[in-house]
Amino acid sequence: MSSRGNFSGRIGFILTAAGSAVGLGNIWKFPYLAGQNGGAVFLFIYLICVFLLCYPVMVGEISIGRRAGLDAYGSYTKLGGRRWGLLGLFGIMVGIFILSFYNVVAGWAFGYFLHISFGDLLNQTDFSSFFGLFVNDLLDLSSAEGLANSNFIFSMVFMAMTAFIVARGIQSGIEASNKIMMPILYLILIGIIVYALTLPNAISGVKFYLIPDFAELKIQTLFEGLKQAFFSLSLGMGTLMTYGSYLKKTENIPSSVAVISVADTSVAFLAGLMIFPLVHFLQFKLQVTEVATAGPPLIFIVLPQIFHEMGPLLGRIVGGLFFLLVCFAALTSTISLLEVPVAYLVDQKKMSRKKVSWAIALLIFILGLPIMASQGMIPALNKLAFYKGQDYLVFVADMCDISLTVGGCLMCIFITRRWKIHNMHDELEIGNPGYKNSFLKKYLSVTIQYVCPVLLGILSILIIIDKFFGIDRIFN
Ligand code: PHE
Repeated sequence: MSSRGNFSGRIGFILTAAGSAVGLGNIWKFPYLAGQNGGAVFLFIYLICVFLLCYPVMVGEISIGRRAGLDAYGSYTKLGGRRWGLLGLFGIMVGIFILSFYNVVAGWAFGYFLHISFGDLLNQTDFSSFFGLFVNDLLDLSSAEGLANSNFIFSMVFMAMTAFIVARGIQSGIEASNKIMMPILYLILIGIIVYALTLPNAISGVKFYLIPDFAELKIQTLFEGLKQAFFSLSLGMGTLMTYGSYLKKTENIPSSVAVISVADTSVAFLAGLMIFPLVHFLQFKLQVTEVATAGPPLIFIVLPQIFHEMGPLLGRIVGGLFFLLVCFAALTSTISLLEVPVAYLVDQKKMSRKKVSWAIALLIFILGLPIMASQGMIPALNKLAFYKGQDYLVFVADMCDISLTVGGCLMCIFITRRWKIHNMHDELEIGNPGYKNSFLKKYLSVTIQYVCPVLLGILSILIIIDKFFGIDRIFN
């Protein structure tokens, strides 16, 4: 066996890749995006994107990784030459930037988990101002308690946990931790859903979530659905290529990808089914017709208020479990993000996995500092003049989103023009004898060579235009 390490088998690979996919994207982003974009309409568009565009891209990414058996840069270089290697480097950079903001938000969730389970967060009366103070509490050296409650520390500890796991290697670090965290994550999720559905007014939340409102269908809904699908499935920047490089030749890629996609989509769907009944329960309790569900603060402002309404003991238990769930989801994703640059340095520069895991984690943590400071502490970063007054976190997250669809488009062009589709088919036949004459083979040929590059190319350009200029202004 190669000294790079590998997954022990099918279950280990699927759980780990699903662990990468299931993350803040599913639990933090998907529900509020669905809430803002017409509920079930968004879900519908999302599913089309997954089926038509993401499934083929994921199969392509994993087969490139497994064929080359190297990190993202090494894979593109080995199969396509030095110039295509640049696409791998681009992906590695994007991964570093995603992790720089992702880890900050994961740090918030970790802080909320500690504050709710062991502190008195739920005794607040104004959760919105609490959140505002909380995210700006970066480093308080005035007392031991102040220090322990600083965001700087939460985020640092989260990054350290990530580095610790990645440093231990593929099987005993990454795979082993996913095998523990993923089943617990599902259990907590199902447990909270069952409980949430018993609360007063829960059904009205389910209805809001599941009955489509086609009046909400706009071109932006399509953009949001596509970006979200790419982000949620960890596509377009080399995470799954890197994981694919540790996959044994006996495994069946297309069927594993189907399981991973379904696992990720089901968690996103279930997260909505957990959150909307809770939100509507709060509306009932407060006797209001609407509470603000818009945007990122949903899980940090609205949910704590709901846990508060449940009473001191139950709130602590359900709230604590909820944020534990978020932490597990985030950690299985941060691990996969850190693995991308680590694999690059281990494979290309022959450096020690242990050392580079910690060194890159430190670098990324430092890149996260301006993100933490952009939540109010540094006004210039809080309202970027060139970005419609939005903050630096939103800017970095948006740029990463765009890079993912562009990366996916270029990868399809790579397969079509450079590596050649028949080589991908050869790789997919391994471990999958029925593939040769299957409908799937035809489907992948058409989607990877034509549908994906064309649609991803056009949509990426439209998304960029919309971000910087506003597409409504141009077409109306
Ligand atoms: N898929 C992860 C989520 O949904 C985020 C992620 C993106 C992880 C890209 C790895 C690569 O939260």
